[in-house]
Amino acid sequence: MTLVGPTFDLVVAANRLPVERVLDAHGVGRWHRSPGGLVTALDSVMQGHDAAWVGWSGEAGPAPAPFRKDGLHLIPVGMSPVEIQEYYEGFSNETLWPIYHDVIVPATFHRAWWNTYRTVNHRFAQAIAEVAAPGARIWVHDYQLQLVPAMVRELRPDVRIGWFNHIPFPPVQLFAQLPWRRSVVEGLLGADFLGFQRTADAQNFLRVCHLLLGMATKADTVTLTPPGDDLCAGRTVRAAAIPISVDFEELDALSRTPTVVARAAQIRASLGDPRILILGVARLDYTKGIRHGLKAYEELLRDKQIAPPDVTLMQVALPSRERVKAYRLLREEVAGTVGRINGEYSAFCSPAVHYLHHFYPRAEMAAMFLAADVMLVTPLRDGMNLIAKEYVACRHDLGGALVLSEFTGAWQELHEAFICNPHDIEGVKQTIMGAITAPDSERRHRMKAMRERVADHDVQRWAIDYLEALASAPQNPHARSRANQAEERRIERANRANRSASDTASERNPH
Ligand code: F6P
Repeated sequence: MTLVGPTFDLVVAANRLPVERVLDAHGVGRWHRSPGGLVTALDSVMQGHDAAWVGWSGEAGPAPAPFRKDGLHLIPVGMSPVEIQEYYEGFSNETLWPIYHDVIVPATFHRAWWNTYRTVNHRFAQAIAEVAAPGARIWVHDYQLQLVPAMVRELRPDVRIGWFNHIPFPPVQLFAQLPWRRSVVEGLLGADFLGFQRTADAQNFLRVCHLLLGMATKADTVTLTPPGDDLCAGRTVRAAAIPISVDFEELDALSRTPTVVARAAQIRASLGDPRILILGVARLDYTKGIRHGLKAYEELLRDKQIAPPDVTLMQVALPSRERVKAYRLLREEVAGTVGRINGEYSAFCSPAVHYLHHFYPRAEMAAMFLAADVMLVTPLRDGMNLIAKEYVACRHDLGGALVLSEFTGAWQELHEAFICNPHDIEGVKQTIMGAITAPDSERRHRMKAMRERVADHDVQRWAIDYLEALASAPQNPHARSRANQAEERRIERANRANRSASDTASERNPH
C-alpha cells in the first residue's frame, strides 16, 4: 500500500486513546489524559520512541483528525453509536469479557455483534497500516482487537506485529463456547509474538491452538501450516508471559511529595482518624470481587471483631461500562449493600463504609494509598490488578498491608501479600484480621519485599522485555545480565526525559 502521511517506527493500538475530551467552563472541548492502568503504562513507554497511538476517542461519530498531546501522536478511530453498542459494549464486554473471566456472568452471543467487531477491527488495522513506517513494530493491545494482527499482516506484510492481552486468556473449555473461536485464534496468529500476563494464560492459548484447531505446538510456540504442500512456508508464533507493571519511580516520587503526604493525613483526619483505615479501590466490575470484600467486612462488623470509628472502610468504585446491564445491576447491588451496612453498623458521625463512586486524579489516589492501613484487593479473576502494584509503589514508608486475591496476576509476583480466596468469605475475614493485627515488623518486612519486586519489574522493564521478545520472536531472547538490564533502563529513562523536553519545546513553538 502507498503511504501518504507521516509514518512511525512504533505504532501502539488500543481500544481507547490515552486521552478523553472534557468540556471546559465555556463549553469548549479539551483533550485530557485519561486515568487507567494501560494509559499510564504505555505513556511512559511511548515517550521514548518515535511512536503513534491508534485508538477510539470514547465518543460516537467520525474520527477527529490526528493530533498531538503531551508529546504523543494520537490517531483517532471513529465509531458510530451502533458500533459502540455492538463492538464495545456487546461483543467486547458482553461476549468476550465474561468468557475470559471464568463466566462469572453468562456470555451473550449475537452474530450482528460479531460482524461489527470484525468491521471495527478492520478499521483499526487500516489506520495502523496507513501510519506504520516500513518495517515498523506494531503493538496491539487487548481483547477488543484480537483480529487486528492478521488484518494488519494482510495489509502490511513488511511490519513486525505483537499483541498483548491485559486480561486472562480462558481455559479451552470456556473458549470453546465462542462460536467464532477459529476466527479469533486466526486473527491473533497474524502476530509474531503474543504476550500474556501469566504463563497459565499463554498455555491456555497454546492448548486452544492444539486442541480446538489441531495446530502443532512445541514449548511456547505454535506453527501454522499454510494450505498446500510447502511445509517450509509455515510461520511460527511465540506465546509467552510478560506481566505488566506500574511506573514505580513515578509513583514512589509522587507519594513522597509533601502535598500527597499532607493530603494522606488530611484524609485520615476527615474520616475521624480511625486506628485502622481499610481501603478498597476497583473499577465497578463484577470481576473485581467488591461484593465479596463488602460481605467479609460486614460479617466482621456483625461478629464485633471490628467497629467504627476504630476501624472504617473507604470503598472507591471507579465508574465503568455503565450502559452494560451487568454493570448497572452491580452498581445497584453495591450501593444497596453499602446502605445496609451503614444503617446497621455506623456509629454517630462515623459511617462504617465511606462509599465513593468517582474517578480521582493520580495524586489523590496516591494519598489514599498512603493513608490506608489495609488495602483490600479481592478480584474473582483479574489479568494483573495494577491497583495492588500501585499501592505497593506508594508505600515508601513501608507501612500498610496488602490483602490480595490469589486469582489476580499480581499474586504471581506479590507472594508476600496477605493472600485470600475471595470465594471463601471466612478466609477473607481471617486474612483481613491477620493484616490488621500483624506486628509492624512483619508488615514492614512484607512491604519491603513487594516493593523490591515491583521496583525491579516496573513498567519500563515490561516494555523493554516485550519489545525485545517481539524483535526475537519466535525465539526466546537470550537472558541478559542484570547489569545490561539496568543500563538499558537508564538509557531508556534518559531518552524519555530528552524526548519529552524536546516535545514540550516543539509544542510550545510549533513551526
Ligand atoms: O484491562 C482491561 C480493560 O479493558 C483495559 O483495556 C481498559 O483500560 C480497562 O479495562 C477499562 O475498560 P474500558 O475501556 O472498557 O472502560
